[in-house]
Amino acid sequence: MSNKITVIGAGNVGATCADVMASRELAADIVLLDIKEGMAEGKAMDIMQTSSLREFDTRVTGVTGDYQATENSDIVVITSGIPRKPGMTREDLIGTNANIVKSVADSVLKYSPNAIFVIISNPMDTMTYLTLKSCGLPANRVIGMGGTLDSARFKYSLSKALNVPSTEIQAFVIGGHGDTTMIPLIRFATYNGIPVSELLSKELSDKAVADTMVGGATLTKLLGTSAWYAPGAACASLVESVVRDQKKVLPCSVLLNGEYGQKDIAMGVPVVLGKNGCEKIIDYKLNGAEQDLFNKSAEAVRGMNSVLHEMKVI
Ligand code: APR
Repeated sequence: MSNKITVIGAGNVGATCADVMASRELAADIVLLDIKEGMAEGKAMDIMQTSSLREFDTRVTGVTGDYQATENSDIVVITSGIPRKPGMTREDLIGTNANIVKSVADSVLKYSPNAIFVIISNPMDTMTYLTLKSCGLPANRVIGMGGTLDSARFKYSLSKALNVPSTEIQAFVIGGHGDTTMIPLIRFATYNGIPVSELLSKELSDKAVADTMVGGATLTKLLGTSAWYAPGAACASLVESVVRDQKKVLPCSVLLNGEYGQKDIAMGVPVVLGKNGCEKIIDYKLNGAEQDLFNKSAEAVRGMNSVLHEMKVI
């Protein structure tokens, strides 16, 4: 068991992530920190009151703005910031969230200089890049959570189309974590080793891809705010691979240095996650059309990253 995990932001995603991590006993201690008075304390207490029911030993503590309580965390998950409302894209959040993520990352790093950072706040690829640049952390220690969620949504869409359990589908989404920038790799998707393209009509596989891409927006429209169960669970799976050194391959946003033909950008690619964070990038052989989509996605993410310079946060 890892010693300590801090989750910044005790809102929908942060609290759900802490809840799933506690129930799986991913750390002895989980600290939830929020800026809103009482929010983290209340969520932590509510989670702890399930400990006898769900039989876990992890201690979840909530604090309001007290960074000292986060001291010596092995992992820091950043969810602080505003979520999107119906009609908004993840990119619309940059003006508010860049300032929040920068100040939070600086504050938490002072108390946990060796932590591995997991970034969830949107626009996630740009917030990952911001954390890398503004904190000057090595590439293996900053991991953006988006592709793991998008891939879970892709597996679910495919499982519905095929009428099979989602656990029997293998599928990856790479690229940016945006409605138009993500790339569900249908060519690599399989059902127990059988390419799904052999099992589904073009129309149905196109629909699974399209449903995945608007997965977040569909939920935002239904809920009036962005989703939390799948983002929280996806983050917990990513963290679990790190704290248990499972070496799972999950799509995450990490700094690219020539992989997939891109440099100086954080984008979703399949990575091996172990005790050192991102331990290896798996360089899939994309075909021409897929590489074109990846390059286009990189262009959009780079455009977002340039806003960070305009805002003078890096
Ligand atoms: N420090 C700590 N917490 C903060 C700060 C800050 N500077 N600024 C905001 N927060 C907190 C808010 O008080 C709130 O409790 O972040 C929390 C965000 O929670 P929600 O509003 O419920 O948003 P959520 O749905 O959890 O989404 C958080 O994750 O998926 C992304 O797009 C989403 O960027 C959004 C983030």
